[in-house]
Amino acid sequence: MRMVDIIEKKRNGFELTKEEIKFFIDGYTAGTIPDYQASALLMAIYFQDMTDEERADLTLAMVDSGDVIDLSGIEGVKVDKHSTGGVGDTTTLVLAPLIAALDIPFAKMSGRGLGHTGGTLDKLESFDGFHIEISDEEFINIVNQDKIAVIGQSGNLTPADKKIYALRDVTGTVSSIPLIAGSIMSKKIAAGADAIVLDVKTGAGAFMKTEEDAEKLAEAMVRIGNLVGRKTMAIISDMSQPLGAAIGNSLEIKEAIDTLKGNGPEDLTELVLTLGSQMVVLAGKTDSLDEARKMLLGVIEDGSALEKFAVFVKNQGGNPEWVKNPELLPAAQYTVEVTADKEGIVSEIVADAIGVAAMKLGAGRATKEDEIDLAVGLVLNKKIGDNVKVGDSLVTIHTNKKDVAEVEAMIKDNIQIGDTGKAPKLIYKQIS
Ligand code: URA
Repeated sequence: MRMVDIIEKKRNGFELTKEEIKFFIDGYTAGTIPDYQASALLMAIYFQDMTDEERADLTLAMVDSGDVIDLSGIEGVKVDKHSTGGVGDTTTLVLAPLIAALDIPFAKMSGRGLGHTGGTLDKLESFDGFHIEISDEEFINIVNQDKIAVIGQSGNLTPADKKIYALRDVTGTVSSIPLIAGSIMSKKIAAGADAIVLDVKTGAGAFMKTEEDAEKLAEAMVRIGNLVGRKTMAIISDMSQPLGAAIGNSLEIKEAIDTLKGNGPEDLTELVLTLGSQMVVLAGKTDSLDEARKMLLGVIEDGSALEKFAVFVKNQGGNPEWVKNPELLPAAQYTVEVTADKEGIVSEIVADAIGVAAMKLGAGRATKEDEIDLAVGLVLNKKIGDNVKVGDSLVTIHTNKKDVAEVEAMIKDNIQIGDTGKAPKLIYKQIS
């Protein structure tokens, strides 16, 4: 087989075979296919697209390029959840104990990330002593006993995706639906998921800015998942404004605790119930999304989801008392209110810009070397569609720096108050 023939075949709009796709993935991972040929094929895929079968073959070839996590020692259906990312997305922190409280295993691998705030792991480190350095055996035992645990990333997962993603970044081929879908799904499958729930975000703070593109990506990933034998569902949800109210690590933990008590922000609660219902159905607990929602509401109301969160924190080295007394979590030295200077209705809150404002306070990392300040961040006191009067607080800044003039200015520039404004739809579509 020759790489040049594969490039020409795709360039001319033909379907590649499983063997041809595997030849490319294996050769590129091993370094026997050079960047220039891989780039040419990626660009051909960008313009000519891939069939569902090609997308599934690409995904599985990337899974096979490295280690695959074996979760077979864990009883029950392991349902993973993936979000394409956004601002103030606290859903995993709420979903994990909720699902576990229904006896569905939540076994997640977690690492540190770059972004407006830390990743789920950073947020959990708001509990002093929380750690993910546990052995595989301990991880499996904890999940079998308490249904919930997080472990550090181990092994060499999807090296092909890492190499190809880096190449896409510099060759103008990131925004290709088959390449994005294959990249995300290969990582979920290599991490051992039996079933997958996807939260594809759309709007200013999302990777897919338009609803149309988000829908294409969601459908592509659901088809790949189902073709490779992993039951997969997706929703398309709004990320034009940040989700919930909190953006920051310990602030989001506090928000997760409120939500587990049934007092969380409306949009976060609704998203959690929608995604959670799909997870409960995929885990085989019921085949009705309505029934699944009732089950989730039940473990919020009877306190067992919050109790599960405390058990989770305790098992991984944190103090479970902090779940009951969240005021013990890291808190910033100062709070500063950003107030409205006119009366009206909030018409726009630009999610990504507000996320950058939180990062400037120290809530997130711009580079891997940056240190996160777990205590700082923002709390939105108004969302799109809310009425405001002059002097009302729009946002509370939680900071350890005295001078936050730049962050205040960014927030003011990115929250618009007008004569009209309507809360955006939260869930655009469910795909199964
Ligand atoms: N996220 C991924 O993991 N892969 C992509 O290609 C794009 C976003």
